[in-house]
Amino acid sequence: MRKLQRSLLESIGETPLVELSRFLPADVPGRILAKLEYLNPGSSKKDRIALQMIEDAESDGRLLPRRTVVELTSGNTGTGLAIVCAVKGYPFVAVMSAGNSVERARMMRGLGAEVVLVPQAPGSIVGQVSGDDLALVEEMTVQIVRERGAFRADQFRLHSNFRAHYLHTGPEILQQSPYPVDVFVDFAGTGGTFAGCAAALKEANAATRCFLVEPEHPQHQIQGGGYGMDLSPQLRPEDVDGVIRVGDDEAIECTRRLARTEGIFAGFSSGANLAAALRLLRGDYPGATAVVAICDSGLKYLSTSLWV
Ligand SMILES: Cc1ncc(COP(=O)(O)O)c(C=O)c1O
Repeated sequence: MRKLQRSLLESIGETPLVELSRFLPADVPGRILAKLEYLNPGSSKKDRIALQMIEDAESDGRLLPRRTVVELTSGNTGTGLAIVCAVKGYPFVAVMSAGNSVERARMMRGLGAEVVLVPQAPGSIVGQVSGDDLALVEEMTVQIVRERGAFRADQFRLHSNFRAHYLHTGPEILQQSPYPVDVFVDFAGTGGTFAGCAAALKEANAATRCFLVEPEHPQHQIQGGGYGMDLSPQLRPEDVDGVIRVGDDEAIECTRRLARTEGIFAGFSSGANLAAALRLLRGDYPGATAVVAICDSGLKYLSTSLWV
């Protein structure tokens, strides 16, 4: 049982690792272990980096009491920051593309954040945030940070993103798994989860192979990543053993099957990770132990085509 906590922030991390024996088709040799990051208080893995970015900035003096915090977000980092800032007393502004699902903006507002929605680039599709859309959100973020003299919790560049997963998510997987981790796959947004986990897993076992998961096409429905951006601020190239491209349909199919077979109600990117893991077990890594993150909750996508 968890002891009395001084705040909700102590509930971030230490998520369960669950073997998906019901999800795995009978003809696929191996096992998939799922790190249930959607059970964090903000219902995503991004709570971890929100806490790490704020606490690292507090401890080295970049963030002083009451200073405004600003972040460019697809919603999950913003929700994590809204929680951390609510508990610690920082005003928080989330800058987000209007192409993301409405649940995210509503949840952040509910947690006391100011949410600035940036219209999508001409030709972009709602529910499909492109690199062009992100460039517009970046412009607005820079402007707001300048105008308000704010601290930018910059998940694309700050080392705290990597550190959250290198210090916690990766080591937790190593402690929880009774099996050596043969492969780790992760759908990249900033690449922070991939980079931090891959570094920790490879340090413990140099034979672990780590694959980045990317969308098949630049226009895709897998919210939270696949922006076609340079991931080098987070990533060490030597930790990338390959790239697996996943289509919207397989990601959606895996997300739905995960819910029906395991009772795990997740978002698109979790399904993308599962599709990639299945491909490896069916292909070059039969019999392997594959680890994936279940990045966020399906409740964040009730307004989308994922759940109809
Ligand atoms: C739902 C979801 N999946 C995957 C990712 C990608 O994670 P990372 O930024 O650590 O690469 C994000 C990032 O925002 C996300 O929100």
